[in-house]
Parts: sequence; C-alpha cells; structure tokens
Amino acid sequence: MDKIVSLCKRRGFVYPGSDIYGGLANTFDFGPLGVELANNIKKSWWKNFVQDRSDMYGLDGGILMNPKIWEASGHTQGFIDTLVECKKCHKRFRTDQVDSKKCPECGGEFTEAKKFVPMFKTFVGPVEDSASVVYLRPETAQAIFVNFKNIIDSFHPVLPFGIAQIGKAFRNEITLGNFIFRKLEFEQMEIEYFVEEKNWEKYFKEWKKEIEKWVIDLGIGKKNIRWREHNKEELAHYSKHTEDIEYDFPFGGFKELYGLAYRTDYDLKNHSEKSGKDLRYIDLKTNEKFFPHVIEPSFGMERTMLAIFSEAYYEEEIKGVKRVVLKLNPAVAPIKVAVFPLLANKPNLIKKAKEIYDGLKKEFFITWDDRGNIGKRYYAQDEAGTPFCVTVDFETLEKDDVTVRERDSMKQERIKIKELAVYLEEKLNG
Ligand code: GAP
Repeated sequence: MDKIVSLCKRRGFVYPGSDIYGGLANTFDFGPLGVELANNIKKSWWKNFVQDRSDMYGLDGGILMNPKIWEASGHTQGFIDTLVECKKCHKRFRTDQVDSKKCPECGGEFTEAKKFVPMFKTFVGPVEDSASVVYLRPETAQAIFVNFKNIIDSFHPVLPFGIAQIGKAFRNEITLGNFIFRKLEFEQMEIEYFVEEKNWEKYFKEWKKEIEKWVIDLGIGKKNIRWREHNKEELAHYSKHTEDIEYDFPFGGFKELYGLAYRTDYDLKNHSEKSGKDLRYIDLKTNEKFFPHVIEPSFGMERTMLAIFSEAYYEEEIKGVKRVVLKLNPAVAPIKVAVFPLLANKPNLIKKAKEIYDGLKKEFFITWDDRGNIGKRYYAQDEAGTPFCVTVDFETLEKDDVTVRERDSMKQERIKIKELAVYLEEKLNG
C-alpha cells in the first residue's frame, strides 16, 4: 500500500488534501494523471451501463436538496454510525470496524458506543438556524428517486428500466480510511433499476453478472473479487437484501468494492407519502398503478481506482535495475502514448518528433518528454502506466519510421510514421 501511495504522489495521480497546511484527514486531490484515470473510469462506466443499453436514462441531480428528502429516505433517523473512543489514546473507531473490545492501536479500553449521523450539515442563507439546515448528500441515489416522475413524464419508459448518475457524495467518516478507500467526499456511480416486485431476484442475479463483467473488463483479476451477503444487522435501513462485491485490497484483505442492494419500493413509497405526489408507475397495458421495486448497483469511483492500482502495480528487476510498472488496461491509462526525440539538443529530431506529437495529440491523450536519457523517460512512463512510447531517432530522418516500445513486454518495433496512428489505435482500442 505504501508503495502505491508513494507512486500516486510522485507521478501526479493522487495528492494528500490540503498538504501544505498539514493536511485534512480522509481528503485527497487528484493530480493531472488522477483526473484522467478518474475520467476514464467514469467514461467506461457510462458507456457500459448507459450508452450501450437501451433501458437506461442518465441524470445529474443536485448535491444540495430539500432536507425533507433525507427524512423521507430515512437517512436522518436510519443512516447512523456508532463509534467508540479509546480511553487511553483517544482514537475513535466505528464499532463495525473493530473486532475486539480493546483498542487495536494501544490495547486501551473503549468508552460506551455513541450514535451519530454521518451526514455533513450546512446552511442556506445568512442565518444558521434549524430552518436553514441542508445536508451534503451521502448518496447520489435520492436525486434519482425524486426525479423518477420527471423521467417517466419526459420519456415514458417501460419496466424494467434504470436511471444512472455519477456524482459526489459526502460522509463524515471518523476513522482513518486506507488512502482513497474511505474519503469524506467521493464519487459514486449509481443505478436505480426499476422492476416489478415478482422479478427482483431475477434482476438481482443479472446485475451481479453485469457488475462482475465490467470490473473484470477493467483489468481486475477474477481471483481477487468475491461476493458477500450482508447479514441482518448490517443491512442498510432501506434494504431487504444486499450483497457486496469485495476486492482483495493490499491492506487487510477482502473489503467492500461496491454494493448491490434490493431496496424494494421503500424510497418511492416514502417520497410519495411525504411529498404528497403520486410516484406510482402506470402499466399502460393493464392500467395498473403500483410502486416499482428497485435493484441498486452502487459503485465507488475511488475504490475502483484503488483496486486498479493494486492490480496494476508491479516491480521487477532487470539486469540489477528495479523497474516499477503500472500495467494499466489501455482503456483507463491516463496517458496513452509518450513521444520522445532521442536527444533534446538536435533541432531536426525535435522538429520531426513535434510533428508526430501534434498529429497524434488529436487522436489520443499523449505526452512529450525530452528530459534526461531515454532509459529514464521509459522508467517514468512505466510508472505512469503509459502503454506506448514512440521515439524519434536518426534513422527516423532517413527512413520515416519510429521506434514504438510496448510497456509490459518492453518489446520495440519500427513502425512507419504514416502507419503510426492506425497502429496505435488498433493496439489501444482493439
Ligand atoms: N446508495 C447506496 C449506497 O450509498 P454504500 O454501500 O453506502 O451504498 C456505495 O456506498 C459505494 O460507495 C461503496 O460500495 C463504495 O464503493 C463507495 N463508498 C462509500 N463510502 C465511501 C467513502 N467514504 N469513501 C470512498 N468510497 C465510498
């Protein structure tokens, strides 16, 4: 884990939040490569679960919503963590995250468990009183439920169908969360999939397959994931049946990657009751009015990223020199191609390399490097997970071809400049 954290900082993937002021626990900033990786994960998710399907509708709801939503959803009463504090070292832990009755840090005794609602509160307007309280959403899901009728009215979807959203969610996490595994603000990629009650098990099983397929396609090894069913005590207040897909993270083993919950008609029914608006679905064939039931696949973007890092990080020794390489799936790799002139002080090499760089830049997210020697540049791109490096050398000037070096095998090939874009396109996008 330490090696991943250090590589993430060194190569501009993830920086600790507010670092120059001593940091703020459980906050992180994404650097230039982190932004690209995050965008590629979200693009892949949206393409797979929204664009490629004909039963899915996208949404981008607000982070701040009417606080009545959180009462109707049961969050203000039911979204509760319990915490204990060590009497000796005063560290706090969520009770569901400690196995023993003693502090794992110093062996001290714990206080009685206290309850708290992990939703962040803020105020709308100039007066900070109870009438102006709003919450930062702890899940994106509720924007989907409160827009259910809008989407029905605009698009007249027929069951089963889903509404998908990617966006920030916020939780007042009180325990230190392993790197980006547990953050105060994080991105969720959520789907509420509306079905007839009698079909919930069938679609639950289908979603398990869909989730598994997507993570494996991203490059996550099948042996490193498993499903685990929630027992009664850990079920969220809205769920009748939940299964987590867990990943074997490099800290503490299998932990929740994503959740898949059967939320029944809990949310639509409660919002209907509390808002006074009829959120029932009308079956146009039978004219029957009812609340659809909901299967909810809920993905965390940061946990996807951490699983990707864990999966892709390799160290190897070549002729006594250590090579660190991120074997990222090209679909999510931030930089697809790096272009180098062999030497930084030869204007004719620079000119040719710039032409190639400018041409490829329109097609792919690429980078330029002319610092240090070629070995150091390869080393840097291996750590960034860049699948291909293109080097312009003296032979290029005579033969109009370049050296293309592949990250994982380190094999080098000479490719004609006029064929380069097609060659890379085929290798990167299949
Ligand atoms: N709408 C359902 C829901 O929010 P959840 O299991 O509480 O369910 C869904 O959250 C996913 O969001 C988790 O499986 C995880 O991937 C991610 N997640 C939850 N809390 C997180 C946190 N503090 N930091 C990073 N990711 C988090």
